[in-house]
Amino acid sequence: MSRLAVLASGSGTNMQALLDAIAAGELDAEIAVVVSNRRDAGAVCKAMDAHVPTVTLPLANRRDPMARAMFDRQLADVVEAFAPDLIVLAGWMLILGPAFLDRFPGRIVNVHPALLPNGEGSKVESSAGLAPALRGARVVRDALLLGLPVTGATVHIVTPTVDAGPVILREEVPLLPGDDEASLHARIKQAEHRLLPRAVALTLAHLAAHEYGHGTRRDGSE
Ligand code: GAR
Repeated sequence: MSRLAVLASGSGTNMQALLDAIAAGELDAEIAVVVSNRRDAGAVCKAMDAHVPTVTLPLANRRDPMARAMFDRQLADVVEAFAPDLIVLAGWMLILGPAFLDRFPGRIVNVHPALLPNGEGSKVESSAGLAPALRGARVVRDALLLGLPVTGATVHIVTPTVDAGPVILREEVPLLPGDDEASLHARIKQAEHRLLPRAVALTLAHLAAHEYGHGTRRDGSE
C-alpha cells in the first residue's frame, strides 16, 4: 500500500479528506505520518484522533536563511524516516527550499486555494476568460479584493518556483454576492476536499507506472 507523508500547518480539513477517502476505499494508501510546524495545528489533533503518527517541528526563525536551510534538512530527515511514496502539502504554510525539495523530486504535491496555470504563467484560463494567477498565502482575500467572478482550487506538483508546478487537477469556484473571506474559503475547501484525494491517487498511479513499468522495482532490482 502506498505511504503518504502529510505536511500541514492549519486546521487539517484536507488531511481529514484524505483519511475519509482512504476509509471509503477511494484512495488506496495510508498516511504514514502527519508533520506540522505548529503544535496547536488542528491537523495534529485530527491525526492523533485517527491514530496516525504525528511529528511537530517548529521553525524558530523564519527570516534567518541558515535556520531555514537547517529546518528544511531536519524536515526532510523526519519525512524520509517514514519512507513515503508521496508527500502531500495539505495547508502547509512554509516555503520549502532546495534542502527539502531536492530530496523528493517529483514526489511532492500541494493544494492551493486558487486557480493556477500549468507552470509559471501570470494568467490562468477560466470559464470567465483569462484570470490572474493568484500565488502566495493570501489568495482567497486577493480574489475578493480583485472582484474576480471565479476563483478555485488547484492541486499541483511542487517545483522550486512557488505555486508554479505542473497542474494535476483544478476546480472552479464562483464568487457569490455577499461573500467574505470565510465564506469563500469554506466553498474553496469543499472543492479541495473533492480534488485532493483524486489528485493523490492519480499521482501515485503515475509514479508507480514510471517506477514499475519497465520491470524495475524501487530498490533497483529487476
Ligand atoms: C487550504 O485552503 C489550502 O489550500 C491552503 O490552506 C488551507 C488549509 O486548510 N494552503 C495554502 O494556502 C498554501 N499556500 P486545512 O488546514 O483545513 O486543510
